[in-house]
Amino acid sequence: MKLIVAYIQPHKLNDVKEELYRSEIYKLSVTNSLGCGQQKGYHESYRGVDIEVNLLKKIRVEIAVNDEFVEPTVEAIVRGARTGEIGDGKIFVTPLEDVIRIRSGERGTDAVG
Ligand SMILES: Nc1ncnc2c1ncn2[C@@H]1O[C@H](COP(=O)(O)OP(=O)(O)OP(=O)(O)O)[C@@H](O)[C@H]1O
Ligand SMILES: [Mg+2]
Repeated sequence: MKLIVAYIQPHKLNDVKEELYRSEIYKLSVTNSLGCGQQKGYHESYRGVDIEVNLLKKIRVEIAVNDEFVEPTVEAIVRGARTGEIGDGKIFVTPLEDVIRIRSGERGTDAVG
């Protein structure tokens, strides 16, 4: 099992959702997030105190999947989120130890899907 965490442009969320749906990936969590990538946060000094002025609004999408769904999920996110411009986002894939469906007590691959 893997946990896929993607940071995408807010205006691409609908496209990403559509592409995921087309690939039969229906379970996801979405939160608002602030961040910066390799263009770096721009720091400004105000009365001697460093303040960050350009953390950009992004959407964080989390999807836990069984291993055979990793590539379809990544490909769907890329199809939906890509414009070719900087700031299109980034996808992280990490090992996922366990999943527990609270209602039934199912665990692992049974609980993800
Ligand atoms: N190494 C990282 N660790 C944590 N979050 C990151 C990392 N890189 C990117 N992010 C998150 O992803 C968002 C989008 O990143 P972004 O697309 O700007 O990546 P990038 O590496 O700067 O690529 P690009 O040059 O295409 O802009 C960032 O605003 C931040 O929230
Ligand atoms: Mg960037």
